[in-house]
Parts: sequence; structure tokens; C-alpha cells
Amino acid sequence: MLFDKFSNASVSFANRLVMAPMTRCRADHCDAVPNSMMVEYYRQRASAGMIVSEGVPVSDRGRGYIHTAALWNEAQAAGWKKVNDAVHAAGGKIFAQIWHVGRISHSALHEDRSAPAGVSALIANSKTFIPGPDGKPQFSPCEAPVELTTAQAEAIAGEFGNSARMAKLAGFDGVEIHGANGYLLDQFRCPFLNQRKDKYGGSLENRYRLLLEAVDAVAAVYDPACVSVRQSPYGLANDMQADPDPLDTYVYIAKELDRRKIGFLHLNDQTASWLHDANHPLLPALRKAYQGAIIACGGFHAGNCEDFLKRGQADLIGIGKLFISNPDLVERLKRGAELAAFDQKTFYAGGEQGYLDYPKLAA
Ligand SMILES: Cc1cc2nc3c(=O)[nH]c(=O)nc-3n(C[C@H](O)[C@H](O)[C@H](O)COP(=O)(O)O)c2cc1C
Repeated sequence: MLFDKFSNASVSFANRLVMAPMTRCRADHCDAVPNSMMVEYYRQRASAGMIVSEGVPVSDRGRGYIHTAALWNEAQAAGWKKVNDAVHAAGGKIFAQIWHVGRISHSALHEDRSAPAGVSALIANSKTFIPGPDGKPQFSPCEAPVELTTAQAEAIAGEFGNSARMAKLAGFDGVEIHGANGYLLDQFRCPFLNQRKDKYGGSLENRYRLLLEAVDAVAAVYDPACVSVRQSPYGLANDMQADPDPLDTYVYIAKELDRRKIGFLHLNDQTASWLHDANHPLLPALRKAYQGAIIACGGFHAGNCEDFLKRGQADLIGIGKLFISNPDLVERLKRGAELAAFDQKTFYAGGEQGYLDYPKLAA
């Protein structure tokens, strides 16, 4: 099944293996335009059925880490076009993961030195990567965010729409909205972090309003079947707290995406636990609520993809870290070949090292 084709009303992939979105911090920080290293990195991995790009900020204030390539202007789109042309020439498909980090940020990352944008003014007990005094990346605690006004929150949906327009210029096959992992749209969902009194706070409907406005803005640019939304149920990364009612929460958003005929619901299991528990109730509930394709990600390896797909509750498997160290992961899984180990030290830095130098299998 893993090597079967996938298609929906608008897009088709050569197999069901998705390269998960991974921030690799290899772009120039000032212009945030993808460079030739990035073209080669994605080209090497084009045999994935579909690549979801690293998170690409939709605005300068949406940036949370130094050296992330972005997608809010035409120069950035032109850089991404080179990546996408290379992936397409190699027979692959690629979606842009568009992203606003919200409070996981620092004024040093923003051209106007603005404070991070917050759903509310609660600081994250988390770290980010900022330019140090020598311009080189250094770890820093996140800064206190300033709560977005209602008008500023409304404008963020427009930033996602603009980024989708740039994605189209760049030739991406689709767009994934990053609604997971404790970043802005996930911060709005969280009933503990979201202390707003306006139309974006309080009820579940209000807390998901901004995500759905972003979805509508993106689906006005791309066919909804080419749109994906990422969620991370039970995720605690970036100083999040456990959702008090995950079955209600995630079934609600799945139904809303279904109503809009959104093509993909991408689930990230941060602890490689609940997705892999065949008795866990969430995945079957999401499958029932949502007719589009479900991408399951988190903790997949050579030994568990096929059995997982056989459960019939997901359509595609997302793999992250093993795609870093195995550019030809599809071929290796097909052949039952050994998988190379990844080096965490070069995940977010290191130039070509740990980025372009993982070899393919000999022919
Ligand atoms: C280096 C690195 C960078 C990541 N960056 C992102 C990102 O930009 N957006 C995102 O949604 N998830 C990101 N993730 C999470 C992955 O997409 C994936 O969900 C996670 O690695 C679990 O999959 P795995 O067990 O196959 O690695 C990142 C993970 C790693 C290791």
C-alpha cells in the first residue's frame, strides 16, 4: 500500500510516503529567500510521494527562528520556484507549509524589532534561535508577546492568503497551513493560552475562527483539494498544555475542514504514542468526521508503515527525521535496505554538512 499511487480530485502522488515539514534554517536571514543548497536538498528527496516544505513564515513578524526561508514576497516566491522546478523535474510533488509562530519568537528576528504576536500576553517558557552579536545563531528565551488586536488578528488570515498567492507563483502543488506544534494558530485553539474576550476567544468555534479564516483565504487561491491543515493533538511542545477535550476539539475542526472539502488533514503525534495505539479513540473519530485524506506522522519507520495503512484510518504516512538522513527513503523502504542514522547536531545548522551529504544507496 505504501508504494501505491494516491490521488484526489486535484492532485496525485506516486506513492503514499510524505516527507514531513522540517525547519532546517539554511536560508539567508535577511531576505529569507531559498538558496541553491535548498534546491539541491529538496531535489534529493523528490521521490517522496509528496514533500511538505519546511515551515515558511507568512510575514516578518511571523518568523520565529533565524535563517528560515519565507513566503510573503515575490523574491521569496522566485527562490522557491527554483526548488519546486527541481522537485517537479525529478517527478515529485511539493506543498508549502505556511506558518506564523506567534509568541515563539523574539524582537531580534523582526525587521521593525516588534515584540512577538500573542493570542494573549502570556510568555512561552521556550527557546528560539536569534542572531547573536556576531550575526551567528544563538539560543534565546522567547520574549513576552503583545496580544494581537482584533483587527490585527483578522489581518493574519490575509497574510496566509497572500502567502498562498506567493506559493502559487512559486509553483507549489498545494499549501499546508501550520496549525500545530504550539505556534500561532495552535495558540488560538488553546483554552488556557487564549484569554481573549473578542470573537477569537472563548468557545471552541471562536478559538478555531482564525484557523478557519486562514483556510478560507488559502482555499480562495488553491483548489481546496490541494490544501492541507496540520494539527498536533495531545502535543505539549512549545510550552502548550493538554487540551481538556481533545475528542470534541479535533472532531470539530475535522468536520469544519470536511465541510470545506479540504484535501488533507495532517496529524502530528509528537510523542509517537496515540496514533500507534490501535485502541485509541481519536483517529477513528477523525476518520468518521473527515472524508479527505489523513496524513499520519510521528514515529514511523520501516517496520510499521504498511500495518498502519492497513488499519484503514489514514491514507498517507508522514516521515520526518529519517528523510533527513535518507534522501532516497522510498527506495530504501522498497528494497528493505538499511536506513542511515540522522545527526541531530546538524538539524538546524551546519551548511551542507548534515544537509546535502547523506548518500543515496548505490544503484
Ligand atoms: C529538524 C526538525 C524540524 C521540524 N520542523 C517542523 C516544521 O517546520 N513544521 C512542522 O509542522 N513540524 C516540524 N517538525 C516535526 C516533523 O514534521 C515531524 O512531525 C516529527 O519529526 C515527527 O516525525 P518523525 O518521527 O518521522 O521524525 C520538525 C522536526 C524536526 C526533526
